[in-house]
Amino acid sequence: MCGIVAYLGNQDAYPRLIKGLHRLEYRGYDSAGIALLNGNIQVYKKKGKVSELEAHSAQQHTPATLGIGHTRWATHGEPNDINAHPHLSGNGRIALVHNGIIENYDLLKTALQKEGHTFESETDTEVLVKLIQAIQDRDGLPIEEAVRLALTRVVGAYAIVVIDQQDPNKLVAARKASPLVIGIGKDEFLLASDATPIVEHTNKVIYLNDEEIAVLHRSGDLEIKTISNEVQTPYIQQLDLKIEMLEKGGYDFFMLKEIMEQPMTLTNCMRGRINADEGWIHLGGVEEYASRITQAKRLIIVACGTSWHAGLIGEYLFEDLARIPVEVEYASEFRYRNPIIGEGDVVIAISQSGETADTLAALEIAKEKGALIFGIVNSVGSSIARVTDAGSYIHAGPEIGVASTKAFTGQVTLLTLMALDLAKRRGTISEGYYHRLLTELTLIPEKIKRVLEQDKKIQYIAAEIKDHTNALYLGRGYNFPVALEGALKLKEISYIHAEGYPAAEMKHGPIALIDDNMPVIVIATNKSAYDKIASNIQEVKARKGRVFAIVPEDDETISQIADYCIEIPETEEPLSPLLSVIPLQLLSYHIAVMRNCNVDQPRNLAKSVTVE
Ligand code: M6R
Repeated sequence: MCGIVAYLGNQDAYPRLIKGLHRLEYRGYDSAGIALLNGNIQVYKKKGKVSELEAHSAQQHTPATLGIGHTRWATHGEPNDINAHPHLSGNGRIALVHNGIIENYDLLKTALQKEGHTFESETDTEVLVKLIQAIQDRDGLPIEEAVRLALTRVVGAYAIVVIDQQDPNKLVAARKASPLVIGIGKDEFLLASDATPIVEHTNKVIYLNDEEIAVLHRSGDLEIKTISNEVQTPYIQQLDLKIEMLEKGGYDFFMLKEIMEQPMTLTNCMRGRINADEGWIHLGGVEEYASRITQAKRLIIVACGTSWHAGLIGEYLFEDLARIPVEVEYASEFRYRNPIIGEGDVVIAISQSGETADTLAALEIAKEKGALIFGIVNSVGSSIARVTDAGSYIHAGPEIGVASTKAFTGQVTLLTLMALDLAKRRGTISEGYYHRLLTELTLIPEKIKRVLEQDKKIQYIAAEIKDHTNALYLGRGYNFPVALEGALKLKEISYIHAEGYPAAEMKHGPIALIDDNMPVIVIATNKSAYDKIASNIQEVKARKGRVFAIVPEDDETISQIADYCIEIPETEEPLSPLLSVIPLQLLSYHIAVMRNCNVDQPRNLAKSVTVE
């Protein structure tokens, strides 16, 4: 949700900023801009993608060794050149980029207007830069102090970077509820919303904490204090990120690369955590709080979007295997509905980015009420990873395609490990079944490879669905959340309306939609409900619906009734979502490509949703 990048050093800032913006474009892509300081501040902004900004600025930009850049996901004001960042103070002295929302911007704007400030854009960001200017003008303060005082008057979320024409050796940055990482290179600083623009320059980073302000000097000095003016000691960490992880590696889209990576990412997720031969699972995060988690009265899973779907599978896993009651909540609802949480509850946040504003806010509420909070996160060093009491990374590597794929299977794998670990500790699973599930889990990456080999067939099926305007996804039990996830994948990247439903629930409403124009995608791999799913399919066929079924290898019954089938390897039922979701990911990918959609950057969406 908006990407920020900044550079201060002895090299040309422009190419570093543009490259950084390309890396961050997955966060928002409706307009982009940069400001360069070389005597004066020059601002270049353009509606559209970073490539459009590049076309507009490549030939005419000023050489500079200090600059800031931004790629936007609009909140206040439509995407256009004027609302694009950076925003300038009225006197042209200060430039600022911002990720987040200034909630009291209207109040601040009215006060500034009374003092004679005028506004060009509809953004909350312009209000902030003009507030900083007003404080600087009034008190003659250095830029960092004017920024700090301005932020004491701001309500909302922000990550900002500010430059001052009269202080060309300084970058000032601050954050509250929106991420910011400082990269410390040789004679240079890079600053960004995440580490992706930084990694090719340095692997030494500092993750700025909430309500901290950093001042980076050309001399190499770096100071951090809180917004309330307390000096902080910077904590420098090593990045564990490789450039290749940020490239498409020969694929047309990141989404396809990320789908294809899943055998590897799940192997990474399980590495050192499971040994099927010796029958153990070690999850560092769980071990730290083993008795509290094992004795939890209830698990509450909070998440959004695809991560919420993974949470639903978690509910089946924890209840079925470990016999712990589970509630799965949309973080955005949970945070505003005065939830009942007790000290015996463990709240599990699931998030790929680790920055989702609603999930973070839900965790704060849970923490205040005394629950233990546990994070299942992909992005290392992210806010959720840092606020939780304990947690486990899924180790999927950077996920850049907006549609989540490898993060989903990583989350489900982690939840499976955790449920099995708790089941063993609580004595709710038989030795035989525990060992079978462990063995099967370690075989999943190889079985995913076999599903991926069916890509051509899935492409053929995609061609059959691509011109429809609606689709229905049905699943039961462990595969009901997979139906939801399949429908979300199709909606978000191909703009075909799709709904996921429990297969048996279809007859309570959605069946009215079925005719020969309605593709129905059925996940029919559950052994326990196989006959029931077969009956559901008959109900669809009786109304001329076209059925595309995901079935187990060598299936005999459903393959006779369905119009098209995709076979996936057999596995234990609790693990089946890890296989059944793969064809659905590929299906939506191919449909989106056939419809000429921008698979990695679907309209109106952003990868990291840091506003509510
Ligand atoms: O980073 P998170 O996992 O917290 O993000 C949650 C959702 O925004 C995310 O899963 C979203 O629904 C994806 N676009 C789904 O593909």
